[in-house]
Amino acid sequence: MLGLKLLTDPRWANIAESNLEEILTDHAWCEQKAASNAISLIANNSEHMDLVEELTAIAIEEMQHFQMVIEIIKQRGYTLGRERKDDYVGKLIKFSKKDGSRNTAFIDRLLFAAMIEARSCERFRVLSQNIKDPDLAKFYYDLMVSEANHYTTFLNFARKYTIDVDVDKRWKQWLEFEGELIQSFGTKEAIHG
Ligand SMILES: [Fe+2]
Ligand SMILES: [Fe+2]
Repeated sequence: MLGLKLLTDPRWANIAESNLEEILTDHAWCEQKAASNAISLIANNSEHMDLVEELTAIAIEEMQHFQMVIEIIKQRGYTLGRERKDDYVGKLIKFSKKDGSRNTAFIDRLLFAAMIEARSCERFRVLSQNIKDPDLAKFYYDLMVSEANHYTTFLNFARKYTIDVDVDKRWKQWLEFEGELIQSFGTKEAIHG
């Protein structure tokens, strides 16, 4: 799925479902961070008008996802907790290239975003297929489709705007790294946990 090297054990969905308040809080903040990431990509690369336009649409969509999640939290009488630390994303940030040319860092930033979209999409698929609550299963199915589109957008922009990066080669490195990394996750009620 989306080139991912390792698929999530479906039992992770049971862990998630056993603490919905926690997974929904973590999920809400994932959406907020996705919106923030799109906004900073816009701010740092404003010379690319098509990227500005498409990432504006993504930022809005991510905040709509945030809104949907907090609506579910409210309906179910839960509380939105504080932002959760995302160790998985922290490791991906460490892997991303910050030195080298401006173009290298820009392309890697797009691949970083594509990587998170791909895994989030996969996690939403696992939730939609395994969670017992039918409303949440439908909700996660819809989000899975949306994040798959974001994944494609980020990867396409990387291919379009590369100057000095072999995107296919670098994307393979991302998939390899992520495939190793994800082996130590899958045990917590967090979207990337
Ligand atoms: Fe989203
Ligand atoms: Fe997304």
